Amino acid sequence: MASIKMLLGFLFLARLLAISSTSDVKALYWLQQPLFPPSAINTSLFTHVYYAFIVPSNTTYQLHVSNITATSLASFTTTLNPTVATLISIGGADANPTLFSTIAANPSALATFINSSITVARTFAFHGVDLDWEFPRTAAQMNHLAHLFAQFRAAISAEAIATRRKPLLLTAAVYFSVDYFISETTSFRYPVDSINDNLDWVNVMTYDLNGPWSNHTGPPAGLFDPKSNASVSYGLRSWIRGGVIPQKVVMGLPLFGRTWQLQDPRVHGIGAPVFGAGPGLDGAMALFQVLEFNSQTGANVVYDKDTASVYSYSGSYWVGYDDPFTVAVKVGFAQALSLRGYFFWAAGLDTSDWKISTQALNAWMLCIHETGGVN
Ligand SMILES: *[C@@H]1O[C@H](CO)[C@@H](O)[C@H](O)[C@H]1NC(C)=O
Ligand SMILES: *[C@@H]1O[C@H](CO)[C@@H](O)[C@H](O)[C@H]1NC(C)=O
Ligand SMILES: *[C@@H]1O[C@H](CO)[C@@H](O)[C@H](O)[C@H]1NC(C)=O
Ligand SMILES: *[C@@H]1O[C@H](CO)[C@@H](O)[C@H](O)[C@H]1NC(C)=O
Ligand SMILES: *[C@@H]1O[C@H](CO)[C@@H](O)[C@H](O)[C@H]1NC(C)=O
Ligand SMILES: *[C@@H]1O[C@H](CO)[C@@H](O)[C@H](O)[C@H]1NC(C)=O
Repeated sequence: MASIKMLLGFLFLARLLAISSTSDVKALYWLQQPLFPPSAINTSLFTHVYYAFIVPSNTTYQLHVSNITATSLASFTTTLNPTVATLISIGGADANPTLFSTIAANPSALATFINSSITVARTFAFHGVDLDWEFPRTAAQMNHLAHLFAQFRAAISAEAIATRRKPLLLTAAVYFSVDYFISETTSFRYPVDSINDNLDWVNVMTYDLNGPWSNHTGPPAGLFDPKSNASVSYGLRSWIRGGVIPQKVVMGLPLFGRTWQLQDPRVHGIGAPVFGAGPGLDGAMALFQVLEFNSQTGANVVYDKDTASVYSYSGSYWVGYDDPFTVAVKVGFAQALSLRGYFFWAAGLDTSDWKISTQALNAWMLCIHETGGVN
């Protein structure tokens, strides 16, 4: 009897370990803002929530934590732990894109930066650290990134051993494809080996593939694109083809749409000529605003099967976005590739009853049941 109990206990433990080592990721980035406090997040829809952003000083290389930021960090983790895991995201689109490179190239700056990041994460009770360098743009910078990941992992492991705590998670937000394109013909590849060796996973930013900066309409985050490589499927598959372990890839989903102003309201398909951005701040609209726009203007809503995307148009305005249906299709695609999960950019942009986030969760669970997998 005892041995059967032990065996069952062992099997249970083995299963628990197997599950926790490859646990799904259903993540959400939260931007420091007064309008949508951490307490407004429905934590039953997510496994991980990211605090965005904090940036290192360009003179001391330490994370800059003002008193206001300290209050915000503490309230974030106090509110969300332990219902979800919390990570602190460093960098972001508005951060100086060469600062990480400068830091990584200078051993003492790098040690200071890493020490400060771990210290801040532990001080404010985060479970992990996320690096969001947008973007390394040269071969040398890709090497710097590889070095930064390796040094960061070494420091996290050493800290965990020294303090006898669970190691911090280490993740990074990355470009939609494994190759960062600086032109149609020139690109630089992300350091795939260093990612596999040192990161828990990468958050692949599979959105903003078309926007008002394009001179034509197009899906901002279409699953397919028969005419170009600007698609979610191309991006995700490039990461897998490039050699990143699928369980280390997490798909990005936008909770916002992009808007355009059509040159001719009668020409309103995908690829229609435009003058530039339509309504919304810089041509961006939260999902809930897109739905308001659709109902207030009586817009036509079109599902495009070639790109597996949805758009709406009214008068001379055109909006490309994701809705519960397109998100469910993408979640199925991510599972077909055996990816780790998905993340949303960003908190506060879904409908007030979390339509998209709920649909993503349901689609993910449905796929797991149907394939009999446990993930
Ligand atoms: C949060 O999401 C769960 C799961 O979908 C749902 O049952 C619950 O009603 C939601 N709570 C709120 C406050 O929206
Ligand atoms: C450091 O950052 C500040 C603003 O954040 C900027 O004005 C300054 O030029 C930067 N210095 C260096 C050396 O990059
Ligand atoms: C920030 O907080 C510290 C400690 O609570 C305090 O000593 C310091 O005066 C504060 N600084 C500012 C600028 O308020
Ligand atoms: C950071 O540096 C301080 C001072 O050298 C040291 O006491 C501390 O253990 C370091 N922390 C980490 C996480 O390496
Ligand atoms: C898409 O990418 C593939 C492989 O990276 C390349 O061979 C092809 O030329 C690209 N297609 C377009 C339209 O850019
Ligand atoms: C968009 O720009 C490209 C070149 O940048 C040009 O070839 C094309 O004709 C333009 N299309 C429209 C619809 O203006």
